[in-house]
Amino acid sequence: MVSYKELGLVNTVEMFKKAVAGGYAIPAFNFNNMEQMQAIIQACAETKSPVILQVSSGARKYANQTILRYMAEGAVQYAKELGWEHPQICLHLDHGDTFELCKSCVDMGFSSVMIDASSLPFEENIKLTKQVVEYAHKYDVTVEAELGVLAGVEDEVSAEESHYTKPEEVIEFATRSGCDSLAISIGTSHGAYKFKPEQCKVDPATGRLVPPPLAFDVLHEIEKKLPGFPIVLHGSSSVPQEEVDTINKYGGALKAAVGIPEEQLREAAKSAVCKINIDSDSRLAMTAAIRKVFAEKPAEFDPRKYLGPARDSMKKLYMHKIINVLGSAGKAE
Ligand code: G3H
Ligand code: 13P
Ligand code: ZN
Repeated sequence: MVSYKELGLVNTVEMFKKAVAGGYAIPAFNFNNMEQMQAIIQACAETKSPVILQVSSGARKYANQTILRYMAEGAVQYAKELGWEHPQICLHLDHGDTFELCKSCVDMGFSSVMIDASSLPFEENIKLTKQVVEYAHKYDVTVEAELGVLAGVEDEVSAEESHYTKPEEVIEFATRSGCDSLAISIGTSHGAYKFKPEQCKVDPATGRLVPPPLAFDVLHEIEKKLPGFPIVLHGSSSVPQEEVDTINKYGGALKAAVGIPEEQLREAAKSAVCKINIDSDSRLAMTAAIRKVFAEKPAEFDPRKYLGPARDSMKKLYMHKIINVLGSAGKAE
């Protein structure tokens, strides 16, 4: 049993309290490798932004849970080395699907876990969430739960259709499960293809797809039911069109990739939404930078020569999110 406190990590209690009161959101960035972790920490240290480092089941399989945990411990030390005196870094399990998985993360030093039982019937979702909460809270580990279904397909997270969270269910769910934060469904979805072209309009000036707006009415109803309760938005990548264009220019084939417009995320961050999950945008930034090097310098074969630019590009993206979208810069001085 390793306590996250010994590793210099923090849970989400204080982060979320301040974020809800201050009208901003904490970035929750997924990581699978060293370059992503370094880019996240560089961006957060430079902007003094609290951060949630997220590990999905796919990331655990790819990189190994033990290695990722030691990387998070290393991230705290790296942040200090970069001059961030009091780093506020949370290590979080993203989309945990069983009690055993959540327990194993608590036991090995994670400071927060998500139990995603949103595909189960209401009563079973409460039951499993409560079981995780009872275990995690013994160790001061915070628990995110989910109500409502997000559409989208990634390695481990998939659903055909989305179902908005029902505001009339949130009080009972939060009270009976004891969760610390609640992920809701208001029209976001996972991955780089968040909307089908037929759901979008076409901007006549740019020819780009314009997605339908998020269901802010549902969000506001939920806020009214649970005043001050931390709300989480998954599937919040914006799918920057410059990155998509770069990927396609250098041999990629991403067609009609479309994300959540930044102005809507800015609006959400000002509300009870205090955690915004971003993974796909980092994947796009990394892929675009690597493709560019491969195309422009075909003789290059030192991985540092393409992973280095990829890391710089991800850092730029993370800084942009922190400063211009989520508003979390300067909140962890
Ligand atoms: O919510 C999904 C995250 O983007 C993780 O994706 O399962 O492909 O690692 P993954
Ligand atoms: P994106 O695919 O929009 O980046 O969402 C990531 C996410 O929700 C991780 O849990
Ligand atoms: Zn998610």
